[in-house]
Amino acid sequence: MSDLSQQSIDSIVSQALAAFAAARTTAELKAARLAHLGDKAAIILANKSLGSLPKAERKEAGQRIGAARAQLNQALAAREAELAEAELAQALRDERIDVTLPVATSPQGAPHPITALMDLVSDAFVAMGWEIAEGPECEGEWLNFDALNIGQSHPARATSDTLFVEPLDNHLLLRTHTSPVQIRTLLDRPLPVYVICPGKTYRADEFDATHVPVFHQFEGLAVDKGITLANLRGTLDAFAQAMFGAEIRTRMRPHYFPFTEPSAEVDLQCFVCHGESVGDPERPCRTCKSEGWIEWGGCGVVNPRVLAACGIDTEVYSGFAFGMGVERTLMFRNNAADMRDMVEGDVRFSRSLVGTAR
Ligand code: DAH
Repeated sequence: MSDLSQQSIDSIVSQALAAFAAARTTAELKAARLAHLGDKAAIILANKSLGSLPKAERKEAGQRIGAARAQLNQALAAREAELAEAELAQALRDERIDVTLPVATSPQGAPHPITALMDLVSDAFVAMGWEIAEGPECEGEWLNFDALNIGQSHPARATSDTLFVEPLDNHLLLRTHTSPVQIRTLLDRPLPVYVICPGKTYRADEFDATHVPVFHQFEGLAVDKGITLANLRGTLDAFAQAMFGAEIRTRMRPHYFPFTEPSAEVDLQCFVCHGESVGDPERPCRTCKSEGWIEWGGCGVVNPRVLAACGIDTEVYSGFAFGMGVERTLMFRNNAADMRDMVEGDVRFSRSLVGTAR
């Protein structure tokens, strides 16, 4: 450093002052301090070079440098105080705690996915103008079986399948499906009827990953003048789209149910492989077992015998019905693989599906 003129020192000082002023945080200011007052800073090097000046110039130059350093140190301290104060004020603002806010004193629950899904199904049908119908879980044997054209010798009526309520001669049981609500609806409500019946159902099943003895179904029933299979098909398609998105495809396969004639099973196109795994051994699909379709539920045109059992003129009225499992629907729709999770009541399971089941 040879130029220790006032002009040169002034320029060093003004550069340093500008850097201090430009620092927006204490960290930036630290960097500016190192650059302008650190070991390698111009003003420090100038100070070190004093010794090599002729004696006559040394005193004056030393005073100039001393004054400059003093000015810089002062400016630095002032800026430091300013930034520290601003940062403290910001931290106090950011970390402010509102002690008047209420705290959660008990753990928060979540709507059970089964309940949420039944609400969703109900909403989809209410949006189409349908009504909700409900019936008791402890049901009359006649309503659960006979009125639905399920004969005395049908295997479902065995005590190995159905939970009867003692004493047996009261002919009460825990309903094995939501179909008795069809009968109650037809006996209670004026025609036409369009009802969706969600609820709990019971069967003497083992409890494992794919079976639970207490499960849920929703039943649909429409009885009006001129109802045909085409109305059923259209309704199921609209419903499947409401549940699974516009892309979903359905198909109906002939089947047998005593309470519908003709009857069918409704399948959903596999939402994982979209049918592409069929006949492609390279890409097997575990979800549909490479069949391309997944069974969703049963349906059909209401058997005139059922209408007649409820005193309805089958020359004038006809109807369609369908029934699906809620647990099964939840498995497809929300990828819930194990039915046991649905009954164990762990709130983490419910929480993990909040938002998806809605
Ligand atoms: N009740 C039948 C079951 O539990 C499901 C069912 C099939 C309901 C066909 C219906 C129907 O309304 O038409 O397996």
